[in-house]
Amino acid sequence: MPDLVQKYTRSQLALRNGQDRDDIWCAFKGIIYDLSTSRLWRNGKHYEHWAGQDLTDELTDAPHSDSVFNRFPVIGELV
Ligand code: HEM
Repeated sequence: MPDLVQKYTRSQLALRNGQDRDDIWCAFKGIIYDLSTSRLWRNGKHYEHWAGQDLTDELTDAPHSDSVFNRFPVIGELV
């Protein structure tokens, strides 16, 4: 069976930081989300946190839970 889930490396994710390209992606628990439409992530920045990386460990700084990811499209898997 072919694996239909798109996979991206950390260096591929790093390009989608809202600076090098318009895309704003961020990884959380191995899943990459597309936050490009979020007003709160404009230019890839969100309250001192930057897109283009795995932010799993940084969620503990946030005043919200991981349910914030529910309304954004999944891009694929971080490998
Ligand atoms: C100092 C740290 C942070 C602050 C003060 C902060 C604050 C907020 C606020 C006020 C909202 C909108 C209200 C809500 O949806 O509950 C929000 C949404 C969001 N936050 Fe954070 N956050 C922080 C860190 C983080 C981190 C580390 C992540 C990723 C792991 C993250 C991901 C998100 C996402 C994906 C949204 C939804 C954006 C939208 O709906 O447009 N936040 N944050």
